[in-house]
Amino acid sequence: MLIKLLRTHLRPYRVQVLLLSALLVLQTVGNLYLPNLNADIINGGVVAGNLHYIVRTGIWMVVLTLAIGLFAVIAVYWASRVSMAAGADLRRAVFSRVQSFSARDVNHFGTASLITRNTNDIQQIQIFLQMALTMMVIAPIMSVGGIVMAIHEGAKLSLLLLVSIPVMGAFIGIVMVRVIPLFRAMQFRIDRINQVLREQITGVRVIRAFVRNDAEAERFERANADLTGTALRVNRIFALTMPIMLVIMNFSSVAVIWFGGRLVSEGSMPIGNLTAFLTYILQILTSVMMAVMVTILVPRAAASAERIGEVLDTVPAISDPAEPVTPTPTGSVRLTGVSFAYPGSERPVLDDVTVDFEPGVTSAIIGGTGSGKTTLVSLIPRLFDVTAGALEVNGVDVRAQSQESLWSSIGIVPQAAFLFSGTVATNLRFARPDATDAELWRALEVAQARDFVATMPGGLDAPIDQGGTNVSGGQRQRLAIARALVKQPRIYLFDDCFSALDAATDTRLREALRTYTAEATVIIVAQRVSTIMHADRVVVLDDGRVVGVGTHDELVESCDSYREIVVSQLGEESLR
Ligand SMILES: Nc1ncnc2c1ncn2[C@@H]1O[C@H](COP(=O)(O)OP(=O)(O)O)[C@@H](O)[C@H]1O
Ligand SMILES: [Mg+2]
Repeated sequence: MLIKLLRTHLRPYRVQVLLLSALLVLQTVGNLYLPNLNADIINGGVVAGNLHYIVRTGIWMVVLTLAIGLFAVIAVYWASRVSMAAGADLRRAVFSRVQSFSARDVNHFGTASLITRNTNDIQQIQIFLQMALTMMVIAPIMSVGGIVMAIHEGAKLSLLLLVSIPVMGAFIGIVMVRVIPLFRAMQFRIDRINQVLREQITGVRVIRAFVRNDAEAERFERANADLTGTALRVNRIFALTMPIMLVIMNFSSVAVIWFGGRLVSEGSMPIGNLTAFLTYILQILTSVMMAVMVTILVPRAAASAERIGEVLDTVPAISDPAEPVTPTPTGSVRLTGVSFAYPGSERPVLDDVTVDFEPGVTSAIIGGTGSGKTTLVSLIPRLFDVTAGALEVNGVDVRAQSQESLWSSIGIVPQAAFLFSGTVATNLRFARPDATDAELWRALEVAQARDFVATMPGGLDAPIDQGGTNVSGGQRQRLAIARALVKQPRIYLFDDCFSALDAATDTRLREALRTYTAEATVIIVAQRVSTIMHADRVVVLDDGRVVGVGTHDELVESCDSYREIVVSQLGEESLR
């Protein structure tokens, strides 16, 4: 997954990566050449007493060192640029995929996890990429080049490499096996912390009202301790890794000097070659260490890549048909034999519902809590697909239309109103950015929100906080209603959004709506009989089934469930 992800997302930057690699190759070759020059100075200059030779080679070494430094700086800078840019691309890809997710896909991952995946997980990939882009070029050239040069300087002494390198390799293998599962656990624990945090921040009022601070703090503490524990275990392993590697390196140096010193005193190895050899063996072991650092990051990056890949590979449960039909928006809604069960649940929430809604008619849906009213309403904009039966909007099955054209003819006010941070005006113009101020005020007037908006500082430009927390629940509802009215769709879906209003406001709102939405298809979900009594048509839902359709008066006569609701709310005498 990691490789696939990197291949796709590095493709736009392949020129930079190639240039970068070229610079790194030059830098590494230069680094490999330096000790050789050093050996020459000692053998040909110091030992032979040739000052001219020393100066000439010395200048050459300075130039080479400066060039290497310059290359290294440019290479590192490019590596960060490429990894940042690729990370940004990846984030964009994840974001746009999540935007196409249906409610079901979001539930599958969980909001917190989707956020972690698009932030922390991508960061892991960026860190890895930045290291890998440089070290994955340097390490192989340096180790192989180092070995070749070492043999060139002293073939006999190179036998020492046969000991050092396997020891280092074995040690690294042990570390990897211990660390990989821990990294996976770590990403999972970060998810958990985000989830707990999110719940506590959004639910802070409930937590306080129910005096659950201590319990919630404990829940956070636990998640936090879990993450810290895992991170500590990883760090404990790493804390041991570096010193042990240094010990291996130092022992190698000592061995080189010990055996090399003998060879020099025997006269079978020039002293310059010994110093060069010492540098080479350190270079070889350093490059092995670099390789380790990159490989240490691999499991973590791989775990993150997998989590990102899961998001990118999710085909949204609901997507547009290959050849969408675009019907003329008449506003008709027709359910034929519709049954629906939530994903992962056997029990049907809607059972064989057949009902239609016509333009110019205000229909109301009433039924007890849990009878499936919200579910029915959310099937119309295709937030979920029906399990059986068919649902037509504008005369065409919703599955045959593009979601965008379907949504464009629907204005929905959900049970829990949601406002975005911004101003009253930006919220109202959500669906129609070109709506005039006069249109906004008209919609506010119908939604019975004109008065309170007029008294807010700035009126239409009054600020709205994230989630609309700076206005009351009832005000939020009315702004959400006004937002739908500004859109002027063919079909209005009001899901239980009048329940937060007092009876008088409720009545005024419904009267104003009647003229404003005269030609549209209006579906009002409500709990209160008084809200729906005057609707053209009432649909009674009971446990997912339609048990009655008609006017209030007809239903009082014919529908037992409806009569029960009426009696329980308005009393026996209302029937007479
Ligand atoms: N996202 C969901 N996943 C699973 N079951 C759900 C979901 N939403 C609602 N339900 C179930 O569907 C039934 C109908 O819910 P709903 O349509 O919200 O009823 P109403 O709006 O009439 O109160 C309830 O029994 C509820 O438990
Ligand atoms: Mg509901």
